[in-house]
Amino acid sequence: MSYPDIPSRSFADWRQVLHGFWPGKPKFTEKDYPSLEGKVVIVTGGNTGLGYETVKSLAGATRARIYIFSRNKEKTLDAIEKLKQEVASEYDVRKREIGFIQVDLSDLTTVKPAVEKFLAKEDRVDIIINNAGVMMPPQGAKAKQGYELQLGTNVLGHHLLQRLLDPLFIETSKTNPPGLSRIVWLSSTAHMLAPKGGVFWEDINFDKVPKFTTNVKSQLYGQSKAANLIQARTWSRKHGYPNVISSSICPGYLNTDLQRYATNMEKYIYKYVLYPQRFGAYTVLYAAFSPDVKDGDHSVSFGVPAKARKDLLSEEVGDKLWSWLDKETDPYV
Ligand SMILES: NC(=O)c1ccc[n+]([C@@H]2O[C@H](COP(=O)([O-])OP(=O)(O)OC[C@H]3O[C@@H](n4cnc5c(N)ncnc54)[C@H](OP(=O)(O)O)[C@@H]3O)[C@@H](O)[C@H]2O)c1
Repeated sequence: MSYPDIPSRSFADWRQVLHGFWPGKPKFTEKDYPSLEGKVVIVTGGNTGLGYETVKSLAGATRARIYIFSRNKEKTLDAIEKLKQEVASEYDVRKREIGFIQVDLSDLTTVKPAVEKFLAKEDRVDIIINNAGVMMPPQGAKAKQGYELQLGTNVLGHHLLQRLLDPLFIETSKTNPPGLSRIVWLSSTAHMLAPKGGVFWEDINFDKVPKFTTNVKSQLYGQSKAANLIQARTWSRKHGYPNVISSSICPGYLNTDLQRYATNMEKYIYKYVLYPQRFGAYTVLYAAFSPDVKDGDHSVSFGVPAKARKDLLSEEVGDKLWSWLDKETDPYV
């Protein structure tokens, strides 16, 4: 049995951790968003949390055709009804259509059918927001194919989804002006809690770690968010640098359902220290639209450039993760 080696945080890392508590006001807001007339945007996990707020801002402030990819049909259709009402009252935009595609990112067999449904409806995709995620579930929580749940959902599910969307996405990017086609990967400042190099290769699912203390759970969540950051940095290189900006973010410290597995005491404290979920959408849409964001960048709340932990930046780290993700998702392509 061995435990992962977690690098100690540098002064700059600590500054970034603290920034999340005092992020300042968002400066890049609705007034800065493009019209996106005729464009198509996908948001995974858009039925709640900051995905919901992102869809609302997109629906209110742009003309894009929007699709929520999420797992629970009833919950998402209810969310879409609520979104329509809020878009009408907050943005004065009526009868806004929002599409729904069912997918369970923790079950790789559901991803291809979902993409096929999407491809039957649309012949372009301009922006992909890989947002859905799960944090610190109970010990033993597994994805359908046996991966630790956060690795399976946050990382492998999105890798396969992105992989299956890539052909249309890259084709679409050829018709777009530079900077329009983008992928936003929801990472987190929790990437700093990840094992050295991002991934605990000796025991990727932490199966041999006997007890998931809060510390171990946060390392596992950190591993999945470090992997999301590495995916963001590596995507363009693995696709011959098409006309796409792929970047990662920490959206902020936000009061959402992400804390669903926290204790009641933790939830009570979070109410006072976390920001309303609305603010997270400003970070997402900064990464989706700002001319200041370049390929491979990392941004933090609520639209501020930031740096990833140093041991995650090498091509070697990216190559190792990418090969593993491709190998594991090959059977589902
Ligand atoms: N909140 C924060 O402070 C914070 C900070 C840093 C990073 N993030 C990241 O931001 C992203 C969004 O988090 P959030 O705070 O908005 O959390 P949230 O309110 O819990 O929303 C998570 C979304 O992901 C969906 N999801 C979970 N498992 C899924 C699966 N197997 N298949 C498809 N969809 C699935 C959820 O669907 P259901 O509604 O069906 O469960 C929900 O729509 C996550 O990637 C998270 O790691 C959040």
